[in-house]
Amino acid sequence: MLYLGIESSCDETAAAVVRAEGEHFTVLSNIVASQIDVHRRYGGVVPEIASRAHIEAISGTVREALSAAGVTPADLSAVGVTSHPGLIGALLVGVNFAKGFAAAYDLPLVPVDHIKAHIAAARILPEGEEPLCPPFLALAVSGGHTAIYVAESHTSYRQVGGTRDDAIGESFDKVGRLIGIPYPAGAGFDRLAAEGFTAATGKADVGEGYRAFSRHYAKYAGDYRLPSPALTDGSLDLSFSGLKTAGVNLLHRVEQSGEPLDRARFAAAYTVRAVDAVTAQLSAALDRYPATALAVAGGVAANSHLRRELAALAARRGVRLCLPPLSLCGDNGAMVAVATQDAYLAGIRAGDDLNASAADE
Ligand code: KG4
Ligand code: ZN
Repeated sequence: MLYLGIESSCDETAAAVVRAEGEHFTVLSNIVASQIDVHRRYGGVVPEIASRAHIEAISGTVREALSAAGVTPADLSAVGVTSHPGLIGALLVGVNFAKGFAAAYDLPLVPVDHIKAHIAAARILPEGEEPLCPPFLALAVSGGHTAIYVAESHTSYRQVGGTRDDAIGESFDKVGRLIGIPYPAGAGFDRLAAEGFTAATGKADVGEGYRAFSRHYAKYAGDYRLPSPALTDGSLDLSFSGLKTAGVNLLHRVEQSGEPLDRARFAAAYTVRAVDAVTAQLSAALDRYPATALAVAGGVAANSHLRRELAALAARRGVRLCLPPLSLCGDNGAMVAVATQDAYLAGIRAGDDLNASAADE
């Protein structure tokens, strides 16, 4: 089975062709037209500009995905498109293009949930690895989402925890901007934190530096101590707005004091709090919902500190960790194509009245 996946929910216009042999997926093409350079000067995504850029890019992106895969529309089993959640104007571009494409080539049209698609990327595994089958625990960490799910089937996810306000990626982006990291700040923040772990602890190995920093937080963070975003009410929830506000206030205090800002130490102190909280809530989720596998996906799944700490958690708990390669963490069409198969096999089809929705469901 061959699936075309189309994604336009935020600031990447993306299309991919994936071959599925049961639960084994081969990415035949994966084209991403990023708008990051356009939005960078505004410090974040400008929805109206995003919609216009999607309109300009979508035909060429889909054409390129088909030709790079060496397939024609007639070879496809279905076309899937992200229909929710996301920026409404941006989503509508992909949805309308997919509707026209499906009608023109007489293909089944399948609506796809962006978050389930991110998690589907964790099932694109290297050749020879066993497929990831439900039930499993899933963590979605992106610019817009931070949520823990029990995946009961590939189309049925039950949310058991997550942020009550801002998403983890959004908080990295907003605080990162204040310390001079261009949008999107996640990757720059990641590198700066690595410098901070080594500089503060004197340990050349970043993982060792991280663990020392985490264990002796008050000592190494010093004046840059921040609160944990993990809620202590017995839930599996987090508050990244709380961590972000504490970070913003701390930066203001440093500015007013006239002291030079130690950016790397700040990034390290912030990252430890974010990563430790997510890891702790996942560990608690494993206690409550015993699972043998954990899938982690979304743009923030590219964070090197989160990847390392999750690998350590999975090893401690004896669970299998499925993390997509860096190229499939951010928004892409391949993840949409895999989720297309899930919905397609479950009999989910859209008609030409398919609409986009900014909301989660
Ligand atoms: O999944 P994604 O591409 O788009 C959404 O669905 O939101 O995620 C984008 C987010 C941005 O907030 C970006 O800063 C963050 O992923 N990100 C990272 C890293 N790489 C990207 N955050 C932390 N560390 C990274 N290495
Ligand atoms: Zn996304």
